[in-house]
Amino acid sequence: MANRYKSDLTWSDVTPENVFLNRRAFMAGTAAFAAGGIAATSGVPAFAASQYSTDEEPNAWEEITQYNNFYEFGTGKSDPAEYAHALTTSPWSIEIDGMVEKPGKYSFEDIMSQMTVEERIYRFRCVEAWSMVIPWNGFELADLLTMAGVDTNAKYVGFETLVRPEEMWGQKRAFVPWPYREGLRMDEAMHPLTIMATGIYGKDIPNQNGAPMRLVVPWKYGFKSIKSIVKITVSDTQPETSWNMINPREYGFYSNVNPEVAHPRWSQASERKVGGGLLAKRVPTQMFNGYGAEVASLYDGMDLAKNF
Ligand code: MTE
Repeated sequence: MANRYKSDLTWSDVTPENVFLNRRAFMAGTAAFAAGGIAATSGVPAFAASQYSTDEEPNAWEEITQYNNFYEFGTGKSDPAEYAHALTTSPWSIEIDGMVEKPGKYSFEDIMSQMTVEERIYRFRCVEAWSMVIPWNGFELADLLTMAGVDTNAKYVGFETLVRPEEMWGQKRAFVPWPYREGLRMDEAMHPLTIMATGIYGKDIPNQNGAPMRLVVPWKYGFKSIKSIVKITVSDTQPETSWNMINPREYGFYSNVNPEVAHPRWSQASERKVGGGLLAKRVPTQMFNGYGAEVASLYDGMDLAKNF
């Protein structure tokens, strides 16, 4: 049972009731098919298993898409599922600017036609001490940055979410200084674990999860994984990030998952797995959310209690 999702099994193999068609990957075409092959009977793509996927059992679609944080649509966990349908996600473009060879506005379709979409089953740990396992579909952020041509002197990447209060009612309140902003150091952005997600369970990513394209950085607290991105800025200075702007004492720039560094108002030593039921025991939180073998070396010599 523990190995049910190991080896070359992916969600397209084990969930026949799911229609495995990521429309946008399908439209973008060849890359995803070349990687995963085409299911002979149904003509829908199967994603190749990734060495980066966990073999833990993913949460149900309903859990992943109905328990969300997306403050542009309200602060309640069910608000995004209720209100995010109002967001128009097509047409969509992402502006890439700053220290890149090819700055400009790239359409979603243009980006997807150049990217290889994979399935990545990742643990996801929110700073509020709940967690899930999510089967994302997406491409490595490094591929997008390489497409734009990053200047070798650049040190950081900043991200911004769309501002459109007429469709995102939460933006009519000033609780977060909109746009929602996030940032990564260049080596974090270029790490193969860092992806831009465009799907979940092989379907287009739902609006409440950050359509049409959101960041996923699995070794950091969930708030770093910014949704519905419209702007990427490459620079040599550390970008401002929303939660750090709101409360710098509680939320640092790095925000690596760390069971030894408590949030000022609660412990980070354990977490509640969403879907485990009310009586389920909390489980210990892992350093770097369990991705230490891949990413710990990025922080060699740094005091992670100070650089939290
Ligand atoms: N991105 C934007 N633009 N706005 C947000 O409010 N919330 C963050 C992050 N990305 C947020 C965001 C937080 S706090 C978390 S835990 C994750 O999204 C939640 O992602 P999920 O709803 O897909 O699980």
